[in-house]
Amino acid sequence: MCGIVGYIGKRRAYDVLIQGLHRLEYRGYDSSGVAMITEPGELNIYKSKGKVSALEHFASNKDISGTIGIAHTRWATHGEPNDINAHPHCSQSGRIALVHNGTIENYTVLKEALSQQGFNFVSQTDTEVVVQLIEYIMDNNHCTLFEAVAEATKRVVGAYAIAVIDRQNPRQIVAARQSSPLVIGIGEGEYFLASDATPIIEYTNKVVYLNDGEIAVIEPDKELKVYDSNAIGKNKIEITELQMSIEQLEKGGYPHFMLKEIFEQPRTLADCISGRITADGKRVVLSGVIENRSKFLNTNRIIIVACGTSWHAALIGKHLIEEYCRIPVVVEYASEFRYSNPVVNQGDILIALSQSGETADTLAALELAKQRGAFVFGICNVIGSSIPRATHSGCYIHVGPEIGVASTKAFTGQVTVLAMMALLIGQMKGTVTDQTVEKIATDIRRIPTLIQDILSQSEKIEDLAKIFTYAHNFLYLGRGYNYPSALEGALKLKEISYIHAEGYPAAEMKHGTIALIDNDMPSVVIAIKDNVYDKTVNNIQQVKARGGKVVAIVTEGDTVVRNMADYVIEVPEISECLTPLLTAIPLQLLAYYIAVNKGRDVDQPRNLAKSVTVE
Ligand code: AGP
Ligand code: GLU
Repeated sequence: MCGIVGYIGKRRAYDVLIQGLHRLEYRGYDSSGVAMITEPGELNIYKSKGKVSALEHFASNKDISGTIGIAHTRWATHGEPNDINAHPHCSQSGRIALVHNGTIENYTVLKEALSQQGFNFVSQTDTEVVVQLIEYIMDNNHCTLFEAVAEATKRVVGAYAIAVIDRQNPRQIVAARQSSPLVIGIGEGEYFLASDATPIIEYTNKVVYLNDGEIAVIEPDKELKVYDSNAIGKNKIEITELQMSIEQLEKGGYPHFMLKEIFEQPRTLADCISGRITADGKRVVLSGVIENRSKFLNTNRIIIVACGTSWHAALIGKHLIEEYCRIPVVVEYASEFRYSNPVVNQGDILIALSQSGETADTLAALELAKQRGAFVFGICNVIGSSIPRATHSGCYIHVGPEIGVASTKAFTGQVTVLAMMALLIGQMKGTVTDQTVEKIATDIRRIPTLIQDILSQSEKIEDLAKIFTYAHNFLYLGRGYNYPSALEGALKLKEISYIHAEGYPAAEMKHGTIALIDNDMPSVVIAIKDNVYDKTVNNIQQVKARGGKVVAIVTEGDTVVRNMADYVIEVPEISECLTPLLTAIPLQLLAYYIAVNKGRDVDQPRNLAKSVTVE
């Protein structure tokens, strides 16, 4: 979950590196740094705790010349965020610089061995071991940088995406990956390197995604060379042409990416749905499911693995698939699944749900299930990311780059794809009538317009946020399809406002949690007109009876809850299974405005990163 950038060509590398770090800062921002090789072959390394702006300030009066460089924005795993532990790390002789995304699991063993060879370490990081190991191999084997990297990557255990430069060979970058992402952009007589395509797209749309075990030797004015883990050159390198546009990456006039992405949802969901419901509204078309029809018809169980917001979407997917396909679904935290020695039966289908497609735990969980015979299906947003490349099949949610660390449009995109998937599989299995499919498919098509209606209430929600800006705790209550909505609403508030919030099944309140209710513990209750509406109304009365303030999310026209809740936000009526797509919107806005009122760094909240590519 850090960001790596590299450049080699004819431009001033520093400019490309800094701009690239800003584009990747959402992946982690504990510290950042750059390393450039100047014309006479000097290696200049500048690094600083804090955000990229701190690095720019630090480098403002330094020599930033040179047309080759690497850069890094860090999310610390080993060693606190400070100047010393910041990347790039330099070899003992000062000859080699390296940046790394990932974790080296055997770094203590390697560090001990290198120390005995006379290497002194200045940082607490695992990364520094790699650059010293490369220098050790080069010195002892009298080999090239590429050969040393190839040998070093055989000795390290763990996840890495690395970029390495050698001041004695200033026309070459060597890069390698294992489990952490790395993309190479191909320009005219220049190359770009990054953790994802966002720093590259403004220069070229031609990219190569490095695969696990591969090593790239990048030299300007030469063909890109990619070698496999046995250091054998690849004859054919797959070049992808990106469709992403640069304006998709800009804020479009909004104060934060998160607000832009909340307001984008009518369009992004229209994109997500486009071409996936037939014109007559009678059928869903998802090629990844249709091409694997027999797998979905014959499976006895679906496992969904995910993390964070994606795990909440997975819980909604469970409801959808069990209701319309009558297939048992288990939802697992990927981090738990991968270490639980799980039972995976032949014929099981595992769905890996991930916006970034790079979450280490989700990737590891799907690899484990694949090894144990499951058919693995990915539902991701980032095209060409590691999870879609590791699965047997899948589909993209097509909501465009999500830059804000707090996931919003990806959540609604995931739930929309899961809803379409449930209808398609149900129709294939005959467990749902054509009339039901047509009704829900018609409602899915209404979603963008209905969300637009809810967004028009944003000022009302902004005013409501002012009332709760100084709350210290929050309860989010929901039932059925909207119990996961309550969990997601709580996570949104927690992760950007730093207010403690807890999502809970509304009916479960009376088994303990209700003891928390008093005037200082506000509750958000999702009380839409569903099959348990009356029970939820009772839950609201239980909260009110104990002096708790209630913010209720209700179905348009509700008069019952309106007369008992302190504040009411209405959402339009729609098929119950789709209501999380609507109730998510006011909860996203409420969290956003409270966080803004508290002066929080909404797009890059403390301690977080957009994509958790390490354990
Ligand atoms: C959600 O707002 C958080 N940023 C986080 O929980 C996120 O959903 C989680 O890290 C999973 O990411 P993924 O969907 O990219 O796998
Ligand atoms: N493990 C390395 C460190 O802690 C890299 C972390 C990252 O991927 O940002 O510095």
